[in-house]
Amino acid sequence: MSLIAGNWKMYKGAAEAGEFCRALRDAELPIGVDVVVCPPFTALADAVQALAGTEIGVFAQNCHWEPEGAFTGEVSAPMLRELGVYGAIVGHSERRQWSGETDETVGRRAAAALAAGLHVIACVGETEAEREAGDTEAVLRRQLAVLDPDEGLVVAYEPVWAIGTGKTATPAIAEDAHELIKSLLDVPVLYGGSVKPENAAELLAQPAIDGALVGGASLDLGSFLAICQAGS
Ligand code: PGA
Repeated sequence: MSLIAGNWKMYKGAAEAGEFCRALRDAELPIGVDVVVCPPFTALADAVQALAGTEIGVFAQNCHWEPEGAFTGEVSAPMLRELGVYGAIVGHSERRQWSGETDETVGRRAAAALAAGLHVIACVGETEAEREAGDTEAVLRRQLAVLDPDEGLVVAYEPVWAIGTGKTATPAIAEDAHELIKSLLDVPVLYGGSVKPENAAELLAQPAIDGALVGGASLDLGSFLAICQAGS
């Protein structure tokens, strides 16, 4: 079984998300693939409603570690559960880069989400400078050290230099990193970073690649479905 998750980032408001999810619901999905969409917070309710009664899961793109409190701009796991949301991404590199996310806060977010019954996609990955300096392994070890194995946990390996750049890790580079991650934490590992219909099959054929976290190419239904097909 592979998992294909579409990370919409800050794209698609509620109306557009609802329309996309209704079309996704009516599309023929391949056997052997778990499909997940991750809309912005404001579109979660519409996505959940459109996909009710299907096997397609709706994930948020972040989740706070406290159930409630004075945390302006944050959303908690119980609030997501109340909406019918199935899981949350934590630790995306864009949040590490722009929103002060640290290994410590990623660990807290993941633990709280899992404890509240959400599934979690925890993102890790090195920057280009870290890879060039030979620090990839150390960075992955550090980022993974805050995560505990859990039935609901999936890791996404997203080399920062491959996100939104059109550069993809070669299947061999990705496979190496996935093997390392799996040796440190026994959970499924998704690959993310410029996954497209053209490269998905080759990446997903690697033994240690259990699925994909797809950004840009998940915004278009046709290309998202083609990637889901590649995962079957
Ligand atoms: P991308 O984004 O597919 O647009 O590179 C992946 C991600 O950030 O999850």
